[in-house]
Amino acid sequence: MLPLNSEVRLPPYLQKITVSYEYPVYFTSGVFDPVNPDLTEAISRKEPTRRHRLAVAVERAVAEAWPQLLEQITAYVEHHRERLELAAAPWCEPGGETAKNDAAILQGFQTRLHQLRLDRQSFVVLVGGGAFLDFGGYAAAMVHRGVRVVRLPTTVLAQGDSGVGVKNGINAFGIKNFFGVFAPPFAVLNDARFLETLSRRDTVAGMAEAVKVALIRDVEFFAWLERHAAPLAACRAAPVAELIRRTAHLHLDHIATSGDPFEFGSARPLDFGHWAAHKLESLTGNRLRHGEAVAIGMALDTLYSVLAGLLAPSAAESILALLEALGFALWDEALETGGAGRRPVVLDGLAEFREHLGGELTVTLLTAIGRGVEAHEIREPVALEALAHLRRRGRRA
Ligand SMILES: NC(=O)c1ccc[n+]([C@@H]2O[C@H](COP(=O)([O-])OP(=O)(O)OC[C@H]3O[C@@H](n4cnc5c(N)ncnc54)[C@H](O)[C@@H]3O)[C@@H](O)[C@H]2O)c1
Ligand SMILES: [Zn+2]
Repeated sequence: MLPLNSEVRLPPYLQKITVSYEYPVYFTSGVFDPVNPDLTEAISRKEPTRRHRLAVAVERAVAEAWPQLLEQITAYVEHHRERLELAAAPWCEPGGETAKNDAAILQGFQTRLHQLRLDRQSFVVLVGGGAFLDFGGYAAAMVHRGVRVVRLPTTVLAQGDSGVGVKNGINAFGIKNFFGVFAPPFAVLNDARFLETLSRRDTVAGMAEAVKVALIRDVEFFAWLERHAAPLAACRAAPVAELIRRTAHLHLDHIATSGDPFEFGSARPLDFGHWAAHKLESLTGNRLRHGEAVAIGMALDTLYSVLAGLLAPSAAESILALLEALGFALWDEALETGGAGRRPVVLDGLAEFREHLGGELTVTLLTAIGRGVEAHEIREPVALEALAHLRRRGRRA
């Protein structure tokens, strides 16, 4: 049917916008040592002769672990005063999953950013773990539709994965990352020294994302992880630093070359193991760390891959053995939430995952170590069998 009052239907004008993003990711040590040029270089790289205004927010736990940090930051900016100036003294904000869960914390941070009268070319420098960077990046992206953000990730997970990517967000209505934006940072500086105060638990938890990206993209990295499992489990600095570098490069490469950096499609291979993980995080009220939940989620999808006839049992054994050697527990009682003989609530994670991605359910499974494949259906009886395998194995460990 032709539109009214028109003999010829006009084709729509097709608007096309191409925007390219570029941001440096530094691997450095002692970023606030006055002689370290990296932060100043990163901030002034577009306008090298200007003086740049910064607001520096530090996750409270990091400031507590590094009692001199706020003063060091002030001294650093003072030392580089030709290029940098502070909008206010560096200050602390709550971090961890609490910051992503509590709307009042978000509002407090946004109020602070408002009071600083930042313009769109000002910088918000965020120092903290993955949850703090997700939260702070989300808040900063709302200010004038996005001020420049420099991330200084302070955990293994954030330095290898979340801190180098393009996603920011907070949790709401009991759903992980329900509110969020794609907003690439202006720069990222991974300072190895911050990891010195990270607990063993959080250091190991961050390694889950390394195993994940190896499993879907890089069999050689998986073999490296196997060879270095003992020193990694002991949190030795040199192998941890190498794990972070390789993990970050694989994530950066995926974002740059997958053809879908802002995830318009339904496929999300970097979320291997995450449908169950996100559900487990909320089911346990964040008793499980993100990385710990991801390890369980990957074990589950690995066993499912075997039961679906996609993956050799020997490959699955290597994957589970590596996770255990790194120190992960592959069973958690939350997997049974729902009650004996009832449908485990964790399976609701699939529907929530589909909703988050949109379109058809798309879950990554494995056909080999280093090779992911997209599946559009997870059969519940098979998933229950995978859960039963995991329960037996977890109880044995
Ligand atoms: N945006 C993304 O693309 C992306 C990707 C993966 C994960 N994530 C998110 O990242 C979050 C997990 O990040 P995480 O593993 O860094 O956890 P986290 O931010 O909760 O940090 C873990 C713990 O370590 C503490 N901490 C941080 N740095 C420290 C340091 N240097 N010394 C001592 N303690 C320190 C924190 O206070 C916290 O208690 C989750 O919310 C997850 O959903 C986001
Ligand atoms: Zn993750």
